[in-house]
Amino acid sequence: MEHSANSIPKVLIFDSGVGGLSVYQQIQARYPQLDYLYLFDNEAYPYGELPEQVLIERVVKLVTHIVIKQGIDIVVIACNTASTIVLPHLRKTLNIPVVGVVPAIKPAAALSKKAIGLIATPATIKRPYTHNLISQFSADVEVKLLGSTRLVMMAEEKLRGETVNLNELKETLRPLVNKIDVAVLGCTHFPLLKPEIQQVFGLGVTLIDSGEAIAMRIGAVLQVEPQKNKQYNKKYYSIYSSAAPWEGAALNKGLEHFSFSPVEILQFQDA
Ligand code: DGL
Repeated sequence: MEHSANSIPKVLIFDSGVGGLSVYQQIQARYPQLDYLYLFDNEAYPYGELPEQVLIERVVKLVTHIVIKQGIDIVVIACNTASTIVLPHLRKTLNIPVVGVVPAIKPAAALSKKAIGLIATPATIKRPYTHNLISQFSADVEVKLLGSTRLVMMAEEKLRGETVNLNELKETLRPLVNKIDVAVLGCTHFPLLKPEIQQVFGLGVTLIDSGEAIAMRIGAVLQVEPQKNKQYNKKYYSIYSSAAPWEGAALNKGLEHFSFSPVEILQFQDA
């Protein structure tokens, strides 16, 4: 993709909640020279509980609005639940690159010698897209499915400064404990709980997410070089789709760690 030498490409990172920050973190660490805007669709969160048609219409409408209003150069749908269903619709509507994130079944299958655990939202677990990935890339290795919205909420709470309840996490992950050697974090919220999930499964289980692969894809599409060790000290904007930011002050504190200024509210009548 061409962009003039003096214009810095602007990347839109989109998710229902804070999960996309795990993807942003990987992209920003590699390409700190880019500009980032984060859009939360907190009004429709959690996506894992939403009917498909509602999800498609919302994401296309919101993302298109922001792309036009903010002059975005590339969109990252940093959400497995949305990516497994809305990417073709978005690509038809927008004339800029759209990169999505889907569960990392392929690298997991290459690693596993026992069984894979796919942990995702209830919607992602049910999607034909996910089942196609499994039959395409993991025909020889069993994939055990675990859908959980509570895990998504625990990641939201952690980012707002709450301590993760390890007993609750253990109980949620129990169907997979001692049964797998690779776990795919198939929801972008879950890398935010990586140390705790690792603690529950033990070091014998490898955790895989799609963040690094997405970061490399962004670099390839924009044709930019990694600048891993450079400091830019930039502040980025983030926008909420609804006027009711859930524990806004705590969220803003969490966002500060990711170099975002306090969240702004999208004027929905403009959307
Ligand atoms: N972060 C999202 C994902 O990757 C969705 C979480 C939700 O809103 O249910 O699937």
